[in-house]
Amino acid sequence: MKNTFNILATIILVLSLSATVCAEGWDVPASVKKKQNPYELTKRNISSGKKIFQTTCKSCHGDPGKGNMLPLQPPPTDLGSQNFLVQTDGEIFHKIRTGKGAMPTFEKTLSDESKWMVIAYLRSLDKMKREAVVTKAVVNPEVTDVKIDIDVDSEHKKLIAELTGLKKDGKRVGLEGIELSFLVKRAFGQLDISGEEAYTNEKGQLIVQFPTDLPGDREGQANLLVKITDEDNYGPIEEKRVVSIAVPTNPKNILSERAMWGTRANAPIWIIATYVLGVIGIWGVIFLILFQLFQLSKMRVKSK
Ligand code: HEC
Repeated sequence: MKNTFNILATIILVLSLSATVCAEGWDVPASVKKKQNPYELTKRNISSGKKIFQTTCKSCHGDPGKGNMLPLQPPPTDLGSQNFLVQTDGEIFHKIRTGKGAMPTFEKTLSDESKWMVIAYLRSLDKMKREAVVTKAVVNPEVTDVKIDIDVDSEHKKLIAELTGLKKDGKRVGLEGIELSFLVKRAFGQLDISGEEAYTNEKGQLIVQFPTDLPGDREGQANLLVKITDEDNYGPIEEKRVVSIAVPTNPKNILSERAMWGTRANAPIWIIATYVLGVIGIWGVIFLILFQLFQLSKMRVKSK
């Protein structure tokens, strides 16, 4: 029994030692190295990779190319630097999956698809491979005073947004290939109704179908917010509008029901009852004491 235990302990020790030794150089198996990103460098993939990067990687690695990573030892690599980007897709994928030292493993916490999206985003910063993206992207003229106009086609419940900017020669032109978010305000949070490919066309327009079953207020009104999804190029640009194409509903006011968070008149019965009983009890005791004192003083008068 003791012997088997010793042997087991030795095996575990040797295994863990060899594991740390392997991790030292962050060796990537040759078969993994050759793997290529199965996802194309489309705008959508790059933008979703960017979102993932900003929420899960930026805290340590900083902004790509800016060198503003956390001062850890060893430092988190600047993932936008050309020195790093010479690595293959497979290598980067492997490193995100395994982690090392302060770099956490994303084996379980990020889906493979999300990992590839992040890699697509990092590749889009790669000076050597960037052409792949640029040929797909549209180059808009330099503009100022960018704005969004919203038009409503009530009959077909369609929303038409137009994104335009002012060119140097004073002409207003549509901006193409920009992702817009259509958000409808709900009781808690916002509902995104943009749909899949929410990019403006060559006129700068984007048409979105308003959900036919979306409830609004009594008059069928809903608060719509249209904004540029990626704020990097043109800054935070948005347009608000009340549209009257939602399904008219009598919204239940959550304050009008009896609940813990209700106003005084709508508090739950048991709270009111407890409170009233408490007040009666306290006043009762006070009156009782006063009454007894009164009796006492009467007794004293009598005994005199
Ligand atoms: C808690 C901090 C932290 C977070 C979060 C983090 N990393 Fe890292 N990362 C590091 C550190 C530290 C290293 C350097 C590890 C080493 O070399 O020992 C590193 C190294 C890397 C490397 C290898 C770089 C090279 O030079 O080969 C890649 C690739 C990487 N991280 C990608 C990511 C991605 C993608 C994310 C988000 C999904 C992420 N990291 C999130 C800390 C972090």
